[in-house]
Amino acid sequence: MKLVVEGVGKDYLIPVIDSVSFGVAAGEFVCLLGPNGCGKTTLLRIVGGLEPATRGRVLLDGEPVTADGRHRDRVGVVFQEDRLLPWMTLRDNVALVLKPLGVAAAGRRATAERYLQLVGLGGFEGYYPGRVSGGMRQRAAIARALAIEPDLLLMDEPFGALDAQNRRIMQNEVRRIWRETGRTIVFVTHSIEEAVAIGTTLVMLSARPSRVRELIGNDGRVERAKLVDDLNTMIMEEVERQQGAAPGPVP
Ligand SMILES: Nc1ncnc2c1ncn2[C@@H]1O[C@H](COP(=O)(O)OP(=O)(O)OP(=O)(O)O)[C@@H](O)[C@H]1O
Ligand SMILES: [Mg+2]
Repeated sequence: MKLVVEGVGKDYLIPVIDSVSFGVAAGEFVCLLGPNGCGKTTLLRIVGGLEPATRGRVLLDGEPVTADGRHRDRVGVVFQEDRLLPWMTLRDNVALVLKPLGVAAAGRRATAERYLQLVGLGGFEGYYPGRVSGGMRQRAAIARALAIEPDLLLMDEPFGALDAQNRRIMQNEVRRIWRETGRTIVFVTHSIEEAVAIGTTLVMLSARPSRVRELIGNDGRVERAKLVDDLNTMIMEEVERQQGAAPGPVP
């Protein structure tokens, strides 16, 4: 699904996003980077229609996203926490999201099992979230987002809570799922190494109120180590700028 972000801005008590514009073709793997608090989660929520923008608009295949839920079944979201229901098996957690789409019980179950298989959880369908590891819960959350077969998959630091090994494994898994399903992905991360390892388009946001500081096509033409260095320099500058512009104590 083609994604266009057009002059999107958001004001809460303070302006958080000034104006962000970028566009990506269907099937891109976009990584969104930027200093803490610059509005990455806010932007992701606006793109998913979970939060209205103060200015600008988001277009999915040319159609504006609205915050009225109309796009929910075309957009899958994976949050930083897995948000699984502890009293339901992994299978039922995944199957649950298919109910509003009108899928019959047998179909929900079959689809849930197919996606749990895809994320490497075959055999664990009947387990409760409390009985599997954090990495496995995060995989189940990814299966749940994929099960609705969304055109656009939004992921907000989904591996933030994982250890280094599991993080690497999950990065590879998400790359594989991305290749196999051809979905457009927007992935928020604070790890520059992670973004350079998995993204095809890297969007670096500036300090709050944010704009796009740099949009980089990660097609292998720039050497990875150099890209990591350049992005590290940029983010340090933006972190410093943001600290210099701290809003002060809450009145
Ligand atoms: N619902 C809200 N009401 C008021 N202010 C909010 C709300 N949500 C976010 N903010 C503010 O917007 C700013 C950006 O928040 P956001 O969570 O989007 O940043 P982020 O880039 O995702 O940060 P992090 O890297 O820590 O995840 C913060 O200053 C935050 O206080
Ligand atoms: Mg965030």
